Amino acid sequence: MEGICRIAIDGPSGAGKSTIAKEVAKRLGIDYIDTGAMYRAIGYKAVKNQVGPEDKEKLENLLNDTDIDFVSGDIILDGDKVNDRIRTPDISKAASVYSALPEVREKLVDIQRSMGSRKSVIMDGRDIGTNVLKDAEYKFFLTASAEERADRRYKELLEKGEDVSREKVLADIKARDHSDSTRTLNPLRKAEDAIEVDTTGMSIDEVIEYVLKEIN
Ligand code: DC
Repeated sequence: MEGICRIAIDGPSGAGKSTIAKEVAKRLGIDYIDTGAMYRAIGYKAVKNQVGPEDKEKLENLLNDTDIDFVSGDIILDGDKVNDRIRTPDISKAASVYSALPEVREKLVDIQRSMGSRKSVIMDGRDIGTNVLKDAEYKFFLTASAEERADRRYKELLEKGEDVSREKVLADIKARDHSDSTRTLNPLRKAEDAIEVDTTGMSIDEVIEYVLKEIN
């Protein structure tokens, strides 16, 4: 890997994008940018401040008054580390709603492009290969069956002590798949030049090795 290298990883929720991207970033010594966390941070802030998705003026003000950054792998919203607060099922839903709004996407895509303009990065999300980093040197599209993705998310939530049922997690995943891929603005879609990796039945290490082999 020589010079600036941008790697885009897209795919539906629970496909393992962030686990894979984080580890690949570590092995290559480059920055990892979790764009889903940025949409979650906006969803979190909007819910906390009771700014509804249809309240355009308040939303505009909220966006102008918001600072999002990554520092040593932590997501910092207006100076506060919000890693855990943005990972609840309610904020997952809010992120899906607010990420469909043009003003939210415009602001976050600007920040994401500037983060990816000066240095090597691996960025994961839904529209990285198709929109944010269209000219990324490497693009991957990670998928897995909805059932397997639900199982992975269910285990994660149980470990965190959340009280959820597997059925509910599967229904949420299917609903989010639907809204993320049918929204008009930059929906979840595989870029034509992305390498598709179906991770159903693959271990995390197998996926990491596969991605690294394609890059090196
Ligand atoms: O990857 P995630 O589950 O943390 O993403 C949270 C939400 O943000 C999800 O509903 C899809 C949305 N999202 C998006 O629209 N575009 C991105 N680049 C990343 C996430």
